[in-house]
Amino acid sequence: MPDPSPHSLEELRARLPGCRACPLWEHATQAVPGAGAAGAALMLVGEQPGDQEDRAGEPFVGPAGKLLDRAMADAGLARDATFITNAVKHFKHLPRGKRRIHQKPNAGEVDACKFWLLHEMRLVAPRVVVAMGATAARALWGGEIAINKARGQLLEREDRSLVITFHPSSILRLPDQAARERQYRLLVDDLALAAKHAA
Ligand code: URA
Repeated sequence: MPDPSPHSLEELRARLPGCRACPLWEHATQAVPGAGAAGAALMLVGEQPGDQEDRAGEPFVGPAGKLLDRAMADAGLARDATFITNAVKHFKHLPRGKRRIHQKPNAGEVDACKFWLLHEMRLVAPRVVVAMGATAARALWGGEIAINKARGQLLEREDRSLVITFHPSSILRLPDQAARERQYRLLVDDLALAAKHAA
């Protein structure tokens, strides 16, 4: 674990690029730290930066980010009033021709990156955290989590209040329009639930 604890989000951002706790830094353009309001009552956590986030250095700016923006707006949430980050800060991918194909981070990579996620949580101190998808749920709650079963409720532990929901990319990957629309509505409901408890 990279020590000692960062004292501010600025210090965390300055130190993150030097992280060598797992090998993912080697093939990524840059580490992508969380972004948003420092004292936000609501923090959203995704899996890892995608292709566009890796290039931009900002979380959720690609297609998943566009869907998330729409879902947040439909839930009555302003993006700039939240803090948005990822469980893993480097883009894991396989090169295929000119394309870079997303690879799911493994448990060791998620654990190695937890240092940064937990310090972001400590420094932002949100009332409610939203884990989007299984990787974020694993990092924040532990174990293999069935999103369908865990979603739609506020989960409480002594140190965190958590809402688990679908990852925007998993909605984009659904083959049929009706299923996409259904799951999108559930994502909006979960964001609205988190916002209500964060208010
Ligand atoms: N998917 C994520 O989990 N995070 C991003 O930042 C972009 C896509």
